[in-house]
Amino acid sequence: MTFNRTLSRSPYMEFAKLRSSATYNLAGSGMAAFPLAELGVSISDLEINGPTIYGYAPLNKAIAKRYRVPVECVVAANGTAMANYLALAATVNPGEEILVEEPTYSLLLDAARYLGLAVKRFRRRTEDFQIDIAELKRAVSKSTKLIVLCNLHNPTGATTSESVLREIGEIAKGVGARVVVDEVYLEMLWQKEPRSAFHLDPQTFISTNSLTKAYGLSGLRCGWVLASPEQAERMWHINDLHGATPVHPGELLSVIAFAKLEMIAAKQKAVLDENRRMLLEALESQSKLEYVWPQHGTVVFPRLKQGSADDFCDRLRSDFDLSVVPGRFFERPQHVRIGVGLATQDVKKSLAQLRKALA
Ligand SMILES: Cc1ncc(COP(=O)(O)O)c(C=O)c1O
Repeated sequence: MTFNRTLSRSPYMEFAKLRSSATYNLAGSGMAAFPLAELGVSISDLEINGPTIYGYAPLNKAIAKRYRVPVECVVAANGTAMANYLALAATVNPGEEILVEEPTYSLLLDAARYLGLAVKRFRRRTEDFQIDIAELKRAVSKSTKLIVLCNLHNPTGATTSESVLREIGEIAKGVGARVVVDEVYLEMLWQKEPRSAFHLDPQTFISTNSLTKAYGLSGLRCGWVLASPEQAERMWHINDLHGATPVHPGELLSVIAFAKLEMIAAKQKAVLDENRRMLLEALESQSKLEYVWPQHGTVVFPRLKQGSADDFCDRLRSDFDLSVVPGRFFERPQHVRIGVGLATQDVKKSLAQLRKALA
């Protein structure tokens, strides 16, 4: 089959943008928007044009400081989505092979295919959605250039431990491959000094992230890659081909957000702790969905024991004005993804709708 790049599209993004909204919304995976009014910004803090060259130096520094890495290892990007794109584009050539976990965040697959990469898969374990090292070893070959995963995992919320990441790093090194870890949900561990896969071995691991999901700051589009200085330089050059210059007011606001991240994290954590408690209670009180409870994060990925999950999602929407993400967007059509990052009073009402639907 010949690949027609000009017809590339992302069915999941189209769902997220056009068909996921509802009065009761459990389809999102991020925390509720953090209001500008609470960021404590005045107009004099902002400017339209700035000295952005390869990133805005104070923002690059803020990212480097938070992760305790040299600033040469930081590449600022338009959200984690662009960070992922740069990480793929700078490490693999068209036709070369990458191994992507399954299930996965579908934009990673869509971007890899757009870049003309040969995508092979390795399956996470069904029983707990953890990475199966034996399965990864079976799938990897001398042709593998890159292993791609998310930690926390989207759609299941599963956490990959550092010891498993080290094993993955060793497998990659054994065949001369690198590992890209999308860590956009890892910020939901709310660590003051966050650990990243990149710290384990900067030559092997590349991590991607943003202020989007944990902090409710999607509109800033403040994403980044942590990579070795040589890889980082390649990414800056590739970024030059894709809308080279960021929105400077966004960069200024992002620097302010980094300075206030602890305050933002404390507020979002309090909301998420309560929302997760309510979600667990709702799941425990029913018998139609079976689930693996993730230790962290906003999402859970239950399996509908009987019937079609697509029909179930349609009925949630038509009869209960409630939206969740159908599992088919994550290659698991019998599952649904439920996310509880929004304001607690909204999540409470949405979970009440879910309980009614499952009754
Ligand atoms: C795993 C993962 N990576 C990246 C993104 C996109 O992040 P951003 O909005 O920062 O581009 C998402 C959004 O859903 C995601 O789930």
